[in-house]
Amino acid sequence: MVTPDQAIETIRETGGAQPGNRALHAKGKLYRGTFTATPAAAQLSCAAHLSGAAVPALIRFSSGSGNPKQPDNAPGVRGMAVKFTLPDGSTTDVSTQTAQLFPASTPDGFVSLLHAMRPGPTAPLRLLGYIATHPSFVKALPVVRAANTVPESYGTIAYHGLHAFRWVAADGSARFVRYHLLPQAGEHLVPPDVAKTKGADFLIDELDKRVATQPVRFDYQVQIAADGDSTVDPSKPWHGTQTVTVGSLEITGIDTEREHGGDIVVFDPMRVTDGIEPSDDPVLRFRTLAYSASVKLRSGVDRGPEAPAT
Ligand code: HEM
Repeated sequence: MVTPDQAIETIRETGGAQPGNRALHAKGKLYRGTFTATPAAAQLSCAAHLSGAAVPALIRFSSGSGNPKQPDNAPGVRGMAVKFTLPDGSTTDVSTQTAQLFPASTPDGFVSLLHAMRPGPTAPLRLLGYIATHPSFVKALPVVRAANTVPESYGTIAYHGLHAFRWVAADGSARFVRYHLLPQAGEHLVPPDVAKTKGADFLIDELDKRVATQPVRFDYQVQIAADGDSTVDPSKPWHGTQTVTVGSLEITGIDTEREHGGDIVVFDPMRVTDGIEPSDDPVLRFRTLAYSASVKLRSGVDRGPEAPAT
């Protein structure tokens, strides 16, 4: 099995990652806001931020690449990560991206794919070899490719959590869900010819202006697993059609407090809280380890007990 350091090394070889920066999603910015759950949320999970009382949220929007200078007008996957502060001062995280599926079922699959995609004359052959050994990739590929877009704004594109989490309500009932963060402003993309005319930092500039005039809102929606939906494979689509809007996230301004003077912010999907349990998805569990290795790369610091257990 691939180690977190090997994964980071492979990511660095393919993605342009640099010391001092996140190994992926290197270019991004932190914002502040408030999350308020709907009454329907508490029916699904007893988690403290789903009780209905407004809680503070820290949000980071990012470009998926490891290149800290990745131009915003280039097509690609974007990230949206949210850290909710609970009444007891602890935090819980949600980490999403614009692709509706992950291209691999396992960390090894993901790292093999990155190896196969490395540029060079043998790249087409390597990719064919990958497809032959990972047949489910063929199904996920068009969905992942469809996310290779440029949005009008970080606030006009939908983000997806991909992993399954088990939500447990106060009455003991439980269900597996996947997360979706849906922009209340609707989804709006920039056509490729117009994208070329935009600046390299236009998404961050646009969001800064947008939040200065009005809050940017997202609906937090959960999709409930139907029979047969995989709870361990983020490359497999779900057929479950039951969705519940569990809250609204209101982004109100730029964060000016965090990530200064050695402060390290990590958005880790394994950082759950009572009422939310991680599934056995191996990609989900590996992410904590890879993110710790990335923290070491970007700051030289070991996360230690800050990292959730896998
Ligand atoms: C094996 C699979 C994956 C690996 C190895 C991986 C690796 C990484 C690394 C190294 C970082 C930088 C972490 C840091 O320095 O804090 C990162 C950030 C991020 N990843 Fe992943 N990732 C994986 C899967 C995913 C998936 C499935 C999603 C979405 C559902 C995702 C969404 C994000 C987001 C949104 C960020 C930026 C977080 C921030 O703004 O701080 N990743 N990833």
